[in-house]
Amino acid sequence: MRKITDVRDFEGRIKRVLITEEQIKEEIKRVGKEIDKLYDGRPILLVSILKGAFVFMADLCRAVSVPCEIGFMCAKSYYQGTVSTGIVNITMDLEQDVKDYHVVIVEDIVDTGRTLNDVVKLLKARKPVSLHVVTLLDKPSRRVVDFTPDISLFTIPDHFVIGYGLDCGEFYRNLPYIAEYSEE
Ligand code: IMP
Ligand code: MG
Repeated sequence: MRKITDVRDFEGRIKRVLITEEQIKEEIKRVGKEIDKLYDGRPILLVSILKGAFVFMADLCRAVSVPCEIGFMCAKSYYQGTVSTGIVNITMDLEQDVKDYHVVIVEDIVDTGRTLNDVVKLLKARKPVSLHVVTLLDKPSRRVVDFTPDISLFTIPDHFVIGYGLDCGEFYRNLPYIAEYSEE
């Protein structure tokens, strides 16, 4: 992966917008209501997987009306450029003891499925009252482990995407939309 040299180079790699800010907003509103219905007034713990899910978490937590606590966990999946190496590391653990909670994992994207497969196994072993997974994006064609999120906002084809929390080489997380990344 070439290093970004300036703003023209940076902008040149945003190939095309796949999902607009408005589409994201609309889907989050819908899923917020779905979560409210699912938990029916019971308090939940939203667990965001850092760093990619921080933007989605900020919007999703404001779209739910059930009482909610917020938690963070840092799972790093190692990439060489845009290709997953298959190594997942928990670099920061959740502060809450999930034993007393209805847990909702909030993730940016399910790609090979390895990250969430590991995170779900780890949290389930701590015996939460219940556990569900919400992902903003799902790339089912890339799966190498058998993993299906409970709620997925958008299913996308096999493109490397950036924006709305998702990065390439740590850049582009602040784009308000989801775009396809240009490898050239
Ligand atoms: P998985 O373990 O392969 O499912 O990958 C999950 C993690 O890889 C996500 O949480 C993202 O951080 C990262 N990732 C996967 N696909 C993309 C992409 O298209 N753009 C940016 N990050 C991605
Ligand atoms: Mg991530």
